[in-house]
Amino acid sequence: MNISDNTIFIPGGTSGIGLALALRLQEAGNTVVIGGRRTEVLDRLAAEHGFDVVTLDIGDPASVLSARDTVLAAHPDLNVLIAMAGIMVAEDVTTAGFLGTAERIIDTNVLGPVRLVAAFTEHLQTRSDATIITVSSGLAHTPLRVTPSYNASKAFIHQFTESIRLQFAGTSVQVIELVPPAVRTELMPGQSQVEAFLPLDDYINETMSLLASEPDATEILVERVKPLRFSEVNGAYAQAIALVNSH
Ligand SMILES: NC(=O)c1ccc[n+]([C@@H]2O[C@H](COP(=O)([O-])OP(=O)(O)OC[C@H]3O[C@@H](n4cnc5c(N)ncnc54)[C@H](OP(=O)(O)O)[C@@H]3O)[C@@H](O)[C@H]2O)c1
Repeated sequence: MNISDNTIFIPGGTSGIGLALALRLQEAGNTVVIGGRRTEVLDRLAAEHGFDVVTLDIGDPASVLSARDTVLAAHPDLNVLIAMAGIMVAEDVTTAGFLGTAERIIDTNVLGPVRLVAAFTEHLQTRSDATIITVSSGLAHTPLRVTPSYNASKAFIHQFTESIRLQFAGTSVQVIELVPPAVRTELMPGQSQVEAFLPLDDYINETMSLLASEPDATEILVERVKPLRFSEVNGAYAQAIALVNSH
């Protein structure tokens, strides 16, 4: 992916990694459209930064299609989709009540990105140079004890991304997976204050520099995520699980 001169849609661009990436990509000479559920936040970000914005809930199939139509009507040249939106919620599987949380996570983190890919796949193939960026996690490969469905949702994203890349081979669509480590955002309440987690700016700097220096990358792996990403192949799975669960 060339990191300038694109028109990019980031559902999940209202905060955290998505917003930080939106700002950096805009600075790098891209037109950026951001989406999310919080209309008032979108309106503020549109006024402050000049983003085009669209309200959407990726848990709702009709909302995804309607956002797709709105974005493409205003930006028929759209060529990059960054499926950033996601939630992370703790669960206790020793009590039956975890089911509602699990269903919500799967609907948002698994079905949401699939809905986005389905909504944009045909359009993206009409562009000569298109990219789908998915967002998994180091936890797809090394589990955090308190978030089973989240970890599994990101494992789905990893394998879905690997698989769709095979189907898009020979088309104009490149597929890239961002695999963040623990980053200081408010994905979980209080997470932005955890000193052991990577500062958001550091994560974005390293990610932008990898995107720029490796235009054919399949995965964007900052240094901090590599022990989690490769724990099993390195034979260090137990140590990685201990590390992740020590905070
Ligand atoms: N921070 C980390 O440590 C970390 C590590 C690995 C992976 N990730 C992944 O990175 C992505 C961004 O997370 P973040 O850390 O930046 O957290 P965040 O600040 O909470 O951002 C989540 C974004 O997703 C949007 N969103 C959530 N549910 C949505 C829905 N149903 N429909 C539309 N938008 C929705 C939110 O916008 P609204 O609230 O306005 O809808 C927000 O823009 C997530 O996929 C997360 O799993 C984060």
